[in-house]
Amino acid sequence: MARCTVIGNWKMHGTQTQARDLARGVRRLVGNRFRAVEVILAPPFTAIEATRRALAGSRVRLAAQNLHWQPSGAFTGEVAAGMLRDAGCSHVIVGHSERRRLFGETSRDVGRKLAAALEASLEPILCVGETLDERRRGDTHRTLSAQLSGALKGVPKSAIESLTVAYEPVWAIGTGRHAAPAQVADAHGWLRRALARRFGAASAREIPILYGGSVNPDNAAELARVAEVDGVLVGGASLDHQSFAAIVKVFSTEIPTATFNIRTTDT
Ligand code: 13P
Repeated sequence: MARCTVIGNWKMHGTQTQARDLARGVRRLVGNRFRAVEVILAPPFTAIEATRRALAGSRVRLAAQNLHWQPSGAFTGEVAAGMLRDAGCSHVIVGHSERRRLFGETSRDVGRKLAAALEASLEPILCVGETLDERRRGDTHRTLSAQLSGALKGVPKSAIESLTVAYEPVWAIGTGRHAAPAQVADAHGWLRRALARRFGAASAREIPILYGGSVNPDNAAELARVAEVDGVLVGGASLDHQSFAAIVKVFSTEIPTATFNIRTTDT
């Protein structure tokens, strides 16, 4: 039974050979251990197949980092949900702040992507998070609210079974500066309440809320102990199999407080 989730987002890093070696390393270190933790790797599109082969037969699952909302068509450079399923992905990241900031994705786009993922039975990992300016202006909750409602507009209650939310404050991503436990507790608590308003308290408790932003083996335990943290979304530290495995290990021993209600995904 998975009590929490640890995801490695490799972003735009790695050839097929590097991806294969990294996935093999993760498989060796976490493959059949730490079963309380759902482990997911998100390679770049070109390395999905190499990663899939390296993970075949293991319990480590595969995510894509992005998708397009149309099932097919004249959309040069885009990849559809059904193609990702076909390539072996069970999950897909939507609304990462790098996509929102650098590629102009709006909450409406994120909502369409999320709906397309659900339609294709891909489990979406919805990223939300405020910029430093928004935090300084006291607009953190307002930003999270807008991103959440934009993405979840029209999403039926039945779909939440496969939804994961990741709180990734933009200012903590890739900076080596993770959010303080009190900041994480506040944001996660707020997200849980917002999800409860939308879907009801019992259903909201089933939705894993992950933290992302400069997570590493040294700060993982501190983050795992924060209320309502059900796992982490790891960028830089997931590019080293030992660091990533060390984070998985932390989450298998620390028992996050809010995770007893998390659905079973690993049997
Ligand atoms: P870092 O762990 O490198 O800060 O990246 C976090 C992230 O963006 C994961 O999606």
